Amino acid sequence: MARKIILDCDPGHDDAIAMLLAHGNPDVELVAVTTVVGNQTLEKVTRNALSVARIANITGVPFAAGCPRPLVRDIEVAHTIHGESGLDGPVLPEPVLELDGRHAVDLIIDTVMSHEPGEITIVPTAGLTNIALAVRKEPRIAERVREVVLMGGGYHTGNWSAVAEFNIKIDPEAAHIVFNERWPVTMVGLDLTHQALATPEVVRRIAAVGTRPAAFVNELLDFFGAMYLKEQGFEHPPVHDPCAVAYVIDPDVMTVRKAPVDIELTGTLTLGMTVADFRAPAPADCRTQVAVDLDHGRFWDLVVDALERIGEVPA
Ligand code: BDR
Ligand code: CA
Repeated sequence: MARKIILDCDPGHDDAIAMLLAHGNPDVELVAVTTVVGNQTLEKVTRNALSVARIANITGVPFAAGCPRPLVRDIEVAHTIHGESGLDGPVLPEPVLELDGRHAVDLIIDTVMSHEPGEITIVPTAGLTNIALAVRKEPRIAERVREVVLMGGGYHTGNWSAVAEFNIKIDPEAAHIVFNERWPVTMVGLDLTHQALATPEVVRRIAAVGTRPAAFVNELLDFFGAMYLKEQGFEHPPVHDPCAVAYVIDPDVMTVRKAPVDIELTGTLTLGMTVADFRAPAPADCRTQVAVDLDHGRFWDLVVDALERIGEVPA
């Protein structure tokens, strides 16, 4: 049976690809898409999510807007990577889907509580503000959620500071809540996602799909690649967010290692660092694990396969 997921995102070039992967793959079912301030303002990322839904013909899935700012900190967007719209590059269609009337936090709670325990997996690919608020508002979701598989953090590297990753750094207090809850957390961090490079071979494979949604992905990669080269010196862009979805679809796409992980909240140089403790075998009650090695070919096979299954979508 397909694994039911809530995708909590801030599209965002790689978030958009994560949406397409989740929509096109038959082993996961998108049961809700929620948005949160992150790569751009809440208004912009929400509009982007709805435009992507139109591009991929995603229907029958509730979309809801969530928190317009982090729990404690000021808003910090990633325009240097994603542009002023949050999804610069492709021309985006006017959305046709209407937003669900609920706040994202309530949609998350309602979705988890209306399914059997263990049925829903939460996949955050953005700051953790919505998820932290949801579990504070309705603590019972911590026992009902099967697991949280998130893109964020990194145990050896950062991208928004020397040691902190963007999704964690923009709302470290929310991350602290999420990593310390009773649910299992898989951290698909930069150590892993920096292996998910969109090489020229990947771009050729996507182009060969020959559909509008596939062309859209390559337009995204074109802009994303140029920004990653300029800002962070990557020859090919690391496509972070779909890695978290890929792990839910096929855990063998990466290796993971159990380790206690906590979030630095007070360091002057290390705010938002995900501190993983590898000193000893993880204790029996350890609920966190970190992604280590990606099977690059298998990962991109999943993305290409999802695009092939989505097929052509009318303009
Ligand atoms: C993460 O930050 C965002 O800019 C991307 O969408 C991804 O979720 C990578 O650090
Ligand atoms: Ca993201």
